[in-house]
Amino acid sequence: MSTRVALVGVNGHGRWHLDNIARLAATGSVTLAAACDLAPVQADSGRILDALDAPLFTSYEKLLDATQPAVVVLVTPPATHLPLATQAMAAGADVLVEKPATVRLDELDTLIETAGRLGRLCQIGFQSSGSYAPERIAETFAAGTLGPLRQVYAAGAWSRPPAYFRRAPWAGRRFLNGAAVGDGALANPFAHALMNCLRIAGVTGEAVAGFETELYHANDIESDDTSSVRLRRDGLTVNLAVTLAADRLVEPYLVAAGEHGALRWQYTTDELWLDRDGTAIQDGTAIRVDLPPARDLLPDLLDARASGREPLCPPRHCRAFTALSERLLDGPEPAPIGASHLTGTDPVTVAGVTDLVVRAAAAGELFSEAGATWA
Ligand SMILES: NC(=O)c1ccc[n+]([C@@H]2O[C@H](COP(=O)([O-])OP(=O)(O)OC[C@H]3O[C@@H](n4cnc5c(N)ncnc54)[C@H](O)[C@@H]3O)[C@@H](O)[C@H]2O)c1
Repeated sequence: MSTRVALVGVNGHGRWHLDNIARLAATGSVTLAAACDLAPVQADSGRILDALDAPLFTSYEKLLDATQPAVVVLVTPPATHLPLATQAMAAGADVLVEKPATVRLDELDTLIETAGRLGRLCQIGFQSSGSYAPERIAETFAAGTLGPLRQVYAAGAWSRPPAYFRRAPWAGRRFLNGAAVGDGALANPFAHALMNCLRIAGVTGEAVAGFETELYHANDIESDDTSSVRLRRDGLTVNLAVTLAADRLVEPYLVAAGEHGALRWQYTTDELWLDRDGTAIQDGTAIRVDLPPARDLLPDLLDARASGREPLCPPRHCRAFTALSERLLDGPEPAPIGASHLTGTDPVTVAGVTDLVVRAAAAGELFSEAGATWA
């Protein structure tokens, strides 16, 4: 049976979802009942909507009233997720909400409570939740050959042009018109790295505290684009170092390190490598671990609806992530990296930042401890 799905937020990352829904529609598993965007949609997206015979609304309320979708996919700015998801669930739909679920922890808890009270399912779009890598990593550490898990870390060095931070009013902002919007390197572009680290470390459902953070911005923005964070607990260090002002690109990766070896997961390509002695990844002799294809979160939500199980990434799994991103929002403002450290302006690049990010992450250090001259 084909499930009637509505897409809300068609531009930006909504285009990925539109293509995905079109792919699933071709298999007969979904029908795009309607789409909604407050802004005019790009011409090629409009053509896909026409081909799918899906009406485009500018009013979300009218979409819900007129089309009564079974599932709503929300790809709108983070600050809108709670009110839009609540409306969808009150109208009888289950929801796939893009990450981050909400900006603040009390909003997330309201989302959890509302879904429970209305008996609706909610999937949060942390797409690496569909990967089998976390299960393989847990199984490998349970087998004991790598010794106890000591550190989970992630590093990533991307480059984003100034236009990226101008693409939407909330981009590069912590607050907009007095409301928290919470865009920042760790809370948004590298959100998957953070979520994956917390998941591998077994920290998902609790509102953990005690993070150490160092946030910087090289771009002319309010939020952070070059960020390090660390959480230490029970003999385990969880830390990340990332930048959007890379002088050399490094796709984000996560390492789960034990006393006698490590696993490295490049979550954007879903590749997992086993390093039995701690040097094989650098030597190029690491062993590739076979993974089944990752599960897509929309079919997973449809399957959860049919079978009565929980989807792969329910909002309760996002409590630690949201507690940390709220801490980033309410903590000290990101500090500027001075112009003398920059080697480019479009895109902005920080001299030596990629080597620093890689080194700090592996050493479990914050930027100032890893010798950043601007920290
Ligand atoms: N999972 C991923 O890898 C990934 C990647 C990029 C973005 N995202 C997430 O997707 C969401 C959207 O991000 P984006 O960069 O596409 O944002 P964006 O601001 O570029 O686009 C959002 C779209 O939603 C529309 N919109 C806003 N409010 C609306 C409303 N009330 N009703 C209908 N339409 C509305 C806007 O007009 C815009 O077209 C965010 O939560 C972001 O974090 C996820």
